[in-house]
Amino acid sequence: MKNVLVTGGAGYIGSHIIVSLLEQGYGAVSADNYSNSTPDVYPRLEELTGKTFAAAEADVRDTGTMARLMREYAIWAVIHCAGYKAVPESIEQPLAYYENNLNTTLSLCNAMRETGVTRFVFSSSATVYGEPEFLPYTEEHPTGNCSNPYGFSKVMNERILTDAAAANPGWGVALLRYFNPIGAHPSGRIGDAPGGKPFNIMPIILQTLTGKLPYVPVTGDTYPTPDGTGIRDYLHIADLADGHVAALRYLETFTGVEAVNLGTGQGVSVLEILRGMETAAGRAIPTKVTPRRPGDIAEMRADASKAKHMFGWETKRTLAEMCADAWRWASNNPRGYENG
Ligand code: WQD
Repeated sequence: MKNVLVTGGAGYIGSHIIVSLLEQGYGAVSADNYSNSTPDVYPRLEELTGKTFAAAEADVRDTGTMARLMREYAIWAVIHCAGYKAVPESIEQPLAYYENNLNTTLSLCNAMRETGVTRFVFSSSATVYGEPEFLPYTEEHPTGNCSNPYGFSKVMNERILTDAAAANPGWGVALLRYFNPIGAHPSGRIGDAPGGKPFNIMPIILQTLTGKLPYVPVTGDTYPTPDGTGIRDYLHIADLADGHVAALRYLETFTGVEAVNLGTGQGVSVLEILRGMETAAGRAIPTKVTPRRPGDIAEMRADASKAKHMFGWETKRTLAEMCADAWRWASNNPRGYENG
């Protein structure tokens, strides 16, 4: 069995990736320092898959620990999700974002060189594209025109991994540029449980529906879009997770580095997401139009054809499923994983 080290394995994206890995015949080892997650998710992953996996409380910046885990579990590939991801926080604390988001990647690369691990899947983001010069974004769209340190840390990590792959000929690296993952495992047992104040639209909608927030601020309704609100390419978290397994299968025979969009190719506006969630929850959602967020982009939409041609991967789940699954998670777990 091929064992995959998943950094940030207790997080929203990492935990759904572990489910896909176990369901598709891989072994998984989670390395997480629980700075924005909890190990309470792990028993639920074993419940959902009927499989066990290993987990280590570890700081990914600790190269020695990463090398030890790679040796101890005969790691075949790394999927690197651990990192800070709050755009507004990155503007307030740029040094913490660069220190953490870059040193985790450098640490893993050094541990891989030490132990002979040669496959790396990186959790990148469409935010690397910045303001669109054309839409939909293809992987050839220029990157680096970001509006915040979080986005720049993704661009810098892509550079680090591109140069590391060039200097280590046996390496195979996939830079997966996520568009907007939302939703939850259809069981309602795992989902997005952001620590602290959420800034993404879906957790804000869910916290409004569960009474934690008074309304959803619609940050701008005068964008040059059909209904004036921002458009994004939302994809189901389970599709995103499956995209990582598809990337691993590709890396079994590929060496070099490839950037690949993970998205649906469809744009959805804030008002459309709100309508989808009102249908899922069966009630109206209070909203208030507020000023645009600095740096927000009017429309982001993926050209998802490269993932289909290269990995044989495309999204399967609909917006209605994303909304229904997100609501099932939040309504069954209003306090995230706190209720055991
Ligand atoms: C989506 C839409 C907002 C909040 C960021 C990162 C990306 C990824 C996801 C990190 C936009 C609107 C939002 C609110 C709103 N990674 N909105 N009211 O900004 O596309 O992407 O998060 O998690 O790398 O860049 O996602 O969910 O913040 O915003 O109207 O209270 O919702 O204007 O159009 P974004 P988002």
